[in-house]
Amino acid sequence: MTKIKTKMIDLNNNNDKEEAIKEAGKALLLGDTVAFPTETVYGLGGNAMMASAIEKIYKAKGRPSDNPLIVHISDFSMLESIAESILPYAYDLMRAFWPGPITFVFKKKAGVPDITTGGLDTVAVRMPDHPVALKLIKYAGVPIAAPSANLSGKPSPTSGAHVVEDLMHKVDYIISDGDTKVGLESTVVDLSGDLPIVLRPGAITDEMINAILVENKYDIIVRQTDDAVDNDEETENIPRSPGMKYKHYAPEAEVWAYTGSSNDIMALFREIILNKIENKENSSCKIGLMIFTEDWEILNPLISEINNVSLADDNLFICLEGSINTSEFFAHQLFHDLRECDRQGCEQILIHAPHTGDMSRAILNRLNKAAEGRVIRI
Ligand code: TXA
Ligand code: MG
Repeated sequence: MTKIKTKMIDLNNNNDKEEAIKEAGKALLLGDTVAFPTETVYGLGGNAMMASAIEKIYKAKGRPSDNPLIVHISDFSMLESIAESILPYAYDLMRAFWPGPITFVFKKKAGVPDITTGGLDTVAVRMPDHPVALKLIKYAGVPIAAPSANLSGKPSPTSGAHVVEDLMHKVDYIISDGDTKVGLESTVVDLSGDLPIVLRPGAITDEMINAILVENKYDIIVRQTDDAVDNDEETENIPRSPGMKYKHYAPEAEVWAYTGSSNDIMALFREIILNKIENKENSSCKIGLMIFTEDWEILNPLISEINNVSLADDNLFICLEGSINTSEFFAHQLFHDLRECDRQGCEQILIHAPHTGDMSRAILNRLNKAAEGRVIRI
């Protein structure tokens, strides 16, 4: 692939932010690719109405072109130009959650190029809750298609550094503005049929969606198909959410995730660590741990006990995921820590996954992919 000269815009180190965002917005309108922060993960944007811009996105990411993109808007007037047959309850959901980490799928209008929607007759739309993203789209003046700004097969980027790692010299602009708040991609809800169906869980949960439907007196509730979608592949030619049929990021290391009590999981981790260290032939074997601070208080004394079998620092790479009482920090760190464990050369990653809290369903959904199904309740 020919190298592109990427223009870096670091908003933490820029005297005229407004002007820089304006320049990138104008470039988007004319067909350039611009990576930008949102509240979920960084996106790689292109003019949603221009097929040549969308081709550049697929090329930069190395993404199959039948995997449709989410179209980002900065106000409701942009929605009218891309989507149709929008039911009244959809407006209530959009008013309740936008701008925010939720994407809605509608019947698309004819003007949206097929390549943007992977050939589907529907279009996924989101209004992101991030001042830079909203300004950028406003300056572009057109809806902006943006998948996550990672190379296909890598985890979604949650910092400007991740985007640089994956897309430097592959895109026209990278706007860097620190860490993303949520850390996992948006909830995707299909509103193009008779009933709302969650295609990808995210920060906006079924409970939150149902609360709005009840409040507005609709006799409707959302259905989940996050796991069913993967199975649909076997039986349907077109899965409801095409992205689900592609292999998702799984680190080089073998990932094992567990839910259950801290005591049980830490006792298991102690056994695994001890075994690995006693049986290893090469001294560089490294285990990544993603655990809560409460877990570390249990595990630390357990493994200092086995120090005499030479548990060197370089055998373990420990990522602390905050308190067990909240799943938000875990979600915020997940993709960052998976990237980091790979960088550290971990052979295995052991994870204590949260099974309660608002973010737990989305976390378990992403972990199920990273762990290739090895998510175990003990
Ligand atoms: O939080 C997010 O949603 C981020 C930020 C950048 O906004 N974007 C993102 O895009 O995660 P991407 O392309 O990585 O994931 C889009 C997902 C895919 O699983 C895709 O198959 C699904 O949305 N999708 C897009 N258009 C669709 C459609 N018309 N019908 C069903 N699923 C669709
Ligand atoms: Mg993605």
